[in-house]
Amino acid sequence: MAYSDKVIDHYENPRNVGSFEKDDDSIATGMVGAPACGDVMKLQLKINKQGIIEDAKFKTYGCGSAIASSSLVTEWVKGKSLDEASQIQNTKIAEELALPPVKIHCSILAEDAIKAAIADYKKRHAE
Ligand code: FES
Ligand code: FES
Repeated sequence: MAYSDKVIDHYENPRNVGSFEKDDDSIATGMVGAPACGDVMKLQLKINKQGIIEDAKFKTYGCGSAIASSSLVTEWVKGKSLDEASQIQNTKIAEELALPPVKIHCSILAEDAIKAAIADYKKRHAE
């Protein structure tokens, strides 16, 4: 199976790889796994007091499509509110990266990681 140019670009030059200091209050972490293949994705969001995502980093142990999907979403979420970021759909990720059907679950992993990070933030900032 051939990867699309965009997948290869993100895979070879992944954006925003790494992690933030997790003691920082403004950091939210979403960690998700794909039961189908065992790949794991960790996405961290840096959220300012206005609820805007200022920065994002990821670490993904998985296939090229999973790495490309997470790299792409770190770019997409920056500057977005939590509500806006929670509306990012895996279908848009799959479309942007031209993922074939067997790799759709890799984009779902990225969507789930965003949702998990937002849930983490809301849980920790709930009164
Ligand atoms: Fe092999 Fe995802 S199935 S890396
Ligand atoms: Fe499972 Fe890509 S093959 S996340």
